[in-house]
Amino acid sequence: MHPAFTTATDAIPITFVAKSTLESLLTGLPATERQFAKASAFTGKPGQYLGLPDGKGSLSNVLFGIEDADDEWRDLFRPGLLPGNLPAGIYRFANTPHDARLATLAFALGSYRFSRYRKNDATSAQLVPPDGVDMHEITRMAEAATMARDLINTPANDMGPDELAEAAKALADKFGARYSCVVGDDLIAKNFPLIHAVGRASTRAPRLIDFTWGNPSHPKVTLVGKGVCFDTGGLDLKPSSGMLIMKKDMGGAATVLALAHMIMDAKLKVRLRVLIPAVENAVAGNAFRPLDIFPSRKGITVEIGNTDAEGRLVLADALALADEEKPDLLVDLGTLTGAARVALGPDLPPFYTNDDRLAADVDRCARSENDPLWRMPLWPPYDSWLESKIANLNNAPSGAFAGSVTCALFLQRFVEHAKSWLHVDIYGWTPTARPARPEGGECQAARAIYKLLSTRYG
Ligand code: BES
Ligand code: MN
Ligand code: ZN
Repeated sequence: MHPAFTTATDAIPITFVAKSTLESLLTGLPATERQFAKASAFTGKPGQYLGLPDGKGSLSNVLFGIEDADDEWRDLFRPGLLPGNLPAGIYRFANTPHDARLATLAFALGSYRFSRYRKNDATSAQLVPPDGVDMHEITRMAEAATMARDLINTPANDMGPDELAEAAKALADKFGARYSCVVGDDLIAKNFPLIHAVGRASTRAPRLIDFTWGNPSHPKVTLVGKGVCFDTGGLDLKPSSGMLIMKKDMGGAATVLALAHMIMDAKLKVRLRVLIPAVENAVAGNAFRPLDIFPSRKGITVEIGNTDAEGRLVLADALALADEEKPDLLVDLGTLTGAARVALGPDLPPFYTNDDRLAADVDRCARSENDPLWRMPLWPPYDSWLESKIANLNNAPSGAFAGSVTCALFLQRFVEHAKSWLHVDIYGWTPTARPARPEGGECQAARAIYKLLSTRYG
């Protein structure tokens, strides 16, 4: 089980309270507890927390405010605030929150702290899992999120293309997957010109990570993740404000690894392939330049409108490779555009697909897993914006409109044979802490897609 959980028998009850249940719950409490709650002005406001003392002054009960059941926007992850507020100890749910499974998951996600560079400063509150919740499923989801968050939060000096490849190999080895990696100038020899072009200016060699797992006769599911370990913007250098959190630009790769962890741990009936182009978009004399033109794996020539639109370039070659074996489902994830944040903000990544059945499944799973995603269109009329005057494609249309859509349209050019394709433009980061989502690296879309896959191939 995940370390946020334990199976002790003696646990302090946590009582969930909404405005409409406050009076009846208080009435049911012992007199001293009830009086203490009233004296403390506990109103059951969502997120409000109150520890109640017993007659001897020790903690006998915890009240925690949640939204009313009919509140359409109730935050099912609100119990994720508990581990950050509770004193060290062992707790249990005394009554059922809105969704016991998501509340249990939120407890684990909310107890995450990034502790690679200093001691974990969180208290260690542990939860006795409520009855009827599948703790194998919760544990694999929480472990996957922890892995992705740790990878994203690790700064670029300790998380370059090499270290990212090591992390992928460790995961592949753990589940007996077949691992390989194409490094440096071999990318040219093996025909990955765009991955090489983006990564060649860094002292840390670019590479394409590739691992395969599962029964070859099962449906082929291929995951591709953007692994830009640091994005300076290249010669089209980002301003310092824009560059600040670009250690997170391998968020797609981290998320794909998290998803692969869940798939392999649950032994889903798929033949899984994971592809991660891992590069650093750096500045040096040999950096790729604006208006350079490169061939791509697929043969399409690409003119560089902007060296900061590097994510779609490395994904293009990886998608072309993935597409060659005609997967049943091809999924790519990456922190691709600032425009996606302008449209939907940091917490609601847009997804793109032409497969309406897949879109409906993604939407349903995103909701059921509280892993929000929002469909945006692969709008054909904007396809012409990608035209170059002297090459087949330009990687960055000059206008400032619909940047996430045009990025998706660019990627679509490299997918031809896959039966179904899903692209998600994630943010990979929580700018200010929210329940179950501590500030910093975040694993977005992995649980929703895992749920979709486990429904189809479980
Ligand atoms: N990694 C960035 C996208 C990004 C920026 C994600 C900030 C989240 C926060 C990506 O490589 C990039 O720089 N995209 C450019 C594309 C543009 C040059 C066409 C962008 O969004 O500005
Ligand atoms: Mn960029
Ligand atoms: Zn980038």
